[in-house]
Amino acid sequence: MLHETIAKDQPVRRWDDYVVPQCWESFTSEDHAVWDLLFARQLELLGTRVVSAFFDGIDLLKLSHPGIPDVEELNRILEPRTGWRTVAVPGLVPDDIFFAMLSERVFPVGNFIRAREQLDYLEAPDCFHDMFGHIPLLAHHDYAEMVEHVGRLGTAAIAAGEGHRVARIYWHSVEFGLAKERGELKILGAGLASSFGESHFSLESTKVERLPFSAERAVHTPYRHDAFQPLYLVSDSLEQTIAEVLALTSEELLRL
Ligand SMILES: [Fe+2]
Repeated sequence: MLHETIAKDQPVRRWDDYVVPQCWESFTSEDHAVWDLLFARQLELLGTRVVSAFFDGIDLLKLSHPGIPDVEELNRILEPRTGWRTVAVPGLVPDDIFFAMLSERVFPVGNFIRAREQLDYLEAPDCFHDMFGHIPLLAHHDYAEMVEHVGRLGTAAIAAGEGHRVARIYWHSVEFGLAKERGELKILGAGLASSFGESHFSLESTKVERLPFSAERAVHTPYRHDAFQPLYLVSDSLEQTIAEVLALTSEELLRL
């Protein structure tokens, strides 16, 4: 995520100014083969290490269909289910634009995929991270509502000059959160679910801290975007994360 100051005299930017056509037909057979390789490798690596709603989303959205998903085809299933839709963007979007998109149940996905030579190194999130990591849980009704709420919180926090507060909530839940499920530690965050190296590390490393998730702790816990996290926040369940975040008002977020 980017952290920038928005000048007062800057023209108002709209989120749809950042949307580009996915140009699905322009993906090469090599691009699709890289997706298939990443998809198969990651599912095998994850086993049952992600919250079960993630796998429900993979099935519901037919993400195991070979090749990079076409955003329009994906939206034909996702939008009637939870009101979320995906749009293509050429790379990271500014934080204010990102949260404005979320507040309207729009999720930006990169219109590119990494090269085979860079399977495990990403300069910017590509469509594998965005679609494999983020989209399955957006088929879950309550999670879908939570992410929309994060969008609204983000817009309000940025307007108050406190964007880092919501960025940390987002990071420690949607991107790098862990959650228990039937007593077992599971991956919740998209950054972990889509990572070859950090998925097992987050669950199994003895060199990191894992502390109980709360909105207050998340707001006060900085994060790394250039290395594996030194600390993960663990909620009692997917439902606990959703309930905590949904209960948070913009005013409370600024007071925490
Ligand atoms: Fe992400």
